[in-house]
Amino acid sequence: MKSFICGILATLVVLAAGAYISVTMGWVPANADANPSALETWAAHKSLRATIKREAPTAPVPIALTDANVIAGIKLYANNCAACHGASDAKASNIASGLFQHAPQLADHGVTDDPEGKIYWFVKHGVRLTGMPSFGDSLTEEQLWQVVLFLKHMDELSPKADKAWKAVPSAKL
Ligand code: HEC
Repeated sequence: MKSFICGILATLVVLAAGAYISVTMGWVPANADANPSALETWAAHKSLRATIKREAPTAPVPIALTDANVIAGIKLYANNCAACHGASDAKASNIASGLFQHAPQLADHGVTDDPEGKIYWFVKHGVRLTGMPSFGDSLTEEQLWQVVLFLKHMDELSPKADKAWKAVPSAKL
């Protein structure tokens, strides 16, 4: 029994030393243009999904789905999001293509199938260790939900809202 416990302790010490050496030697890549290890990808996705499941609000959207709110959301998107997530042409800016994790071009890879509460969580809190900022301190609750309404209904805009969306300048210069 004693040697069994010693064996476990020795294994733990070796693992901890291995992790410490990997970090201090720079073997865990810190650059944005490196491919992540399978372990890093697994841990990041798993933890993000679990956090969203726990924290994303499930109550109905607190503002009405009106053209005024959607168009306000489009303007907020143009100023705060298009640099990374692109305009209606879905052409990635230089910022977007150099980011790790990549920022999805939302006109092509939108979030219209996601629940509003999940989209709200992304915009309010951002995603740690990626380029996705948290807007909880810079946008009001109303503005956060206006952006959410736009993203949720991006594929079914009224002609007026669609015109405003098409007028957002391409992010690719
Ligand atoms: C500096 C770049 C940057 C800006 C600005 C930015 N984002 Fe992001 N965003 C990202 C990145 C990178 C990801 C991917 C994060 C990941 O892989 O988990 C992301 C992810 C998202 C997602 C999740 C997409 C999905 O497929 O699940 C949503 C929704 C989102 N952003 C919305 C917004 C909105 C709305 C704004 C503006 C209010 C915004 N982002 C501004 C970089 C940015």
